[in-house]
Amino acid sequence: MQAFEYYSPTKLVFGLGCIKDKLSAEIKARGYHKVLLTYGGGSIKRNGLYDLVKSELTAAGCAIFELSGIEPNPRVTSVDAGAAMCKEHGIDLVLAVGGGSTMDASKAICAAACYNGPAWDLVLDGSKIKAALPLFTINTIAATGSEYDNAGVITNWDTKEKLPIGSPLLWPQVSFLDPSLTYTVPAIQTVAGSCDMMSHFFEAYFVRDLSPIAQGLIEAAERIAITYTPKALQEPTNYEARAKLLWASTLGCNGIACLGSSATIFPCHAIEHEVSAYYDITHGIGLAIITPRLLRFWLEKDPTVAPRYVDLATNIFGLRRDDYESEEALIEAGLKALEDFYASLGVPSGLSKLGVGSEHFAAMAEHIKTHWIASFDYCYVPMTNEDIVTVLDRSL
Ligand code: NZQ
Ligand code: ZN
Repeated sequence: MQAFEYYSPTKLVFGLGCIKDKLSAEIKARGYHKVLLTYGGGSIKRNGLYDLVKSELTAAGCAIFELSGIEPNPRVTSVDAGAAMCKEHGIDLVLAVGGGSTMDASKAICAAACYNGPAWDLVLDGSKIKAALPLFTINTIAATGSEYDNAGVITNWDTKEKLPIGSPLLWPQVSFLDPSLTYTVPAIQTVAGSCDMMSHFFEAYFVRDLSPIAQGLIEAAERIAITYTPKALQEPTNYEARAKLLWASTLGCNGIACLGSSATIFPCHAIEHEVSAYYDITHGIGLAIITPRLLRFWLEKDPTVAPRYVDLATNIFGLRRDDYESEEALIEAGLKALEDFYASLGVPSGLSKLGVGSEHFAAMAEHIKTHWIASFDYCYVPMTNEDIVTVLDRSL
């Protein structure tokens, strides 16, 4: 077991109908009066959540300011706009209502509101975040886990960069999780969210020294995604399916699944973010395309990693050793099961189907090492720039 320190100050409020009365109570208890309500393209207006939130804010006696239109793959321009509103109106609480994009942008807004300069400075150098406004979130999609972590991912469309922003000051203070709010998530976003969640747990799974507690958590979360994503697609208002997906995803990205294991550097995410930065693709879909290629590449480059692939086949996909004539056959069946699962959800067969070409792959590999991860040497199987390009080529 590796040593670790862990501190999460976020209060989670989970369950059917958990917004009503509790949101206003949490705000009143903390004495906030001027709220910036942030949201995306309007889904919260279509499903009634906006009205509920407004009535809670009114019940708490708050003045309400709004920033709408936060984009999927949120742009730094939205962050700067939100930070300017916070400064102009003396906002004392940011309330993010939406998915990962809204929550991520709102974290950056909280930081930029307390900084004298462009928000992008804080993305490039998180140590410049010395203060941040408090943040509440109401998460509306089982996906990123942003409601329960201290990071976000912001896109600068001018420089074609999509980079993380993080600070111990960016944990939400309170996050509300009502699974019924995810009933209206479109099928493609339900799929993308589950694939994103699966990737967060896979990133923590494919490490050299996996803690047994982490292994149990990760394998359970993967089985939940495999079992309940199809159920949620068939029956979007199935509460149990939505609830299980939402809670599993909440635990995916805050490091809990990494505690006690060797350090992980989230290599699949690093690669996917480069593709998103150039082509604005949906994060979870990009991950689902790249993941099997990356796993196959690692096994090919270093066959000593095979035991974890056996775990994938048996513990996650429930395949029985005795049914296969060799370990290689079992591993192949496990990888095939993963690929078939993604295909069954309608994940496109390759990045080229999303309009991605190979022309920027070398630049992406170089950029990852400059801005995301200094070295892929600590990856499950160490990777060179050429290796990254190979995985991207195979993902086309
Ligand atoms: O914008 P609206 O109208 O709200 O519609 C959204 C958007 O079109 C819609 N949606 C969300 N909840 C809905 C809903 N539609 C109907 N009913 C609902 N209940 O879904 C679309 C996608 O929303 P988005 O917020 O972009 O999705 P997601 O939660 O998957 O977030 C993706 C972003 O999060 C980043 C990704 O890179 C990407 O930019 N990530 C953030 C992480 C973090 N903070 O820790 C970690 C992740 O690995 C990820 O990188
Ligand atoms: Zn992700």
